[in-house]
Amino acid sequence: MAFGDYQFEIYFNGLRGVVPTLPVSAAELEARAQAAMPPSVWSYVAGGAGDERTQRANVTAFERWGLIPRMFVGAKERDLSVELFGMTLPAPVFMAPIGVIGLCSQDGHGDIATAKAAARTGVPMVASTLTVDPLEDVAAEFGDTPGFFQLYTPTDRDLAASLVERAEKAGFKGIVVTLDTWVTGWRPRDLASGNFPQLRGHCLANYFSDPVFRAGLAQSPEQDPQSAILRWVQLFGNPLTWDDLPWLRSLTNLPLIVKGIGHPDDARRAKDLGVDGIYCSNHGGRQANGGLPALDMLPDVVAAADGLPVLFDSGVRTGADIVKALALGATAVGIGRPYAHGLALGGVDGVVHVLRTLLAEADLIMAVDGYKTLKDLTPEALRPVAG
Ligand SMILES: Cc1cc2nc3c(=O)[nH]c(=O)nc-3n(C[C@H](O)[C@H](O)[C@H](O)COP(=O)(O)O)c2cc1C
Repeated sequence: MAFGDYQFEIYFNGLRGVVPTLPVSAAELEARAQAAMPPSVWSYVAGGAGDERTQRANVTAFERWGLIPRMFVGAKERDLSVELFGMTLPAPVFMAPIGVIGLCSQDGHGDIATAKAAARTGVPMVASTLTVDPLEDVAAEFGDTPGFFQLYTPTDRDLAASLVERAEKAGFKGIVVTLDTWVTGWRPRDLASGNFPQLRGHCLANYFSDPVFRAGLAQSPEQDPQSAILRWVQLFGNPLTWDDLPWLRSLTNLPLIVKGIGHPDDARRAKDLGVDGIYCSNHGGRQANGGLPALDMLPDVVAAADGLPVLFDSGVRTGADIVKALALGATAVGIGRPYAHGLALGGVDGVVHVLRTLLAEADLIMAVDGYKTLKDLTPEALRPVAG
């Protein structure tokens, strides 16, 4: 079934008087999710760094590009499948890592729900280090869909090695190391409410269940949660340098992807040191305000990656955005906040709905505009919007 056929499902249901209960537009999805989420979780998900200018610019950057339609192509059938790290994915889309996604679902087990949505859609989940349920329980729900583990590299190398080893054993198919969050960016919304979920003990299951982490505690996290949280604070953020990359590389034979790359020199250097993928992202504008929109950094990073897969996220809200990022050279495009909104509104079904709407729109744009495959989506498909 083509992704675009989701619209037939909706229209045919409409003939029977059944209209979608979940919003189709990103804006309505966001508005309804806000109403459905506890204010502290909402502000953590919605907020960004500083006055959130970079966060907004991530989204509006897509408006500056326009796709050019090609006619007489007969793009009746489209192939959106992509080869990534030796795997074939049905579509060049994945779910970006969201720590606290666990808290976004009504049942408080959003990591598990997201994994189930990955199983149903074939859209991989990148599971954060910061989960409500341990990574083994998350991976158990992936079905046939490959999953990736996102590592926040702790200062204790043995703990880092343990997390990666556990991820390998649990069946994750790649390790994404996030580089831009060894310290939390300045986030006025969270500061205004004095709210940082992890300090309240949320989403630390991967640490509390880890043998190396537990061995460093006088009492177990169950007996003395406060001390365990303090230990987590000491261990969380490792300001990595290039000298650490060979060590990170040595931790796993799985594909190693580095997240947060925006400068072409960094992409080149990471490639030279043996990473398997570059992940161009500015963390959705949550970490450093005053930056370029991630989309503007993508073409140079793609050129520097020189054939290495480039994952991309930050600001993707529509199927058109996905198509534009692909045309600018992304190998696969990460969905961030929108799936958190879907989860808050409809659990597993909500995430599946959001992914299906994004993929349907991307597929139908490729149909209408005459781009049959991802190979046809090159920078030639785009022009800057005048004015
Ligand atoms: C609430 C929230 C939590 C996040 N947690 C993580 C995380 O644990 N690890 C990580 O690498 N990125 C994390 N990110 C960043 C996302 O992976 C992604 O880069 C970002 O959401 C893209 O921006 P967008 O959602 O505005 O499109 C988080 C993003 C949000 C919104």
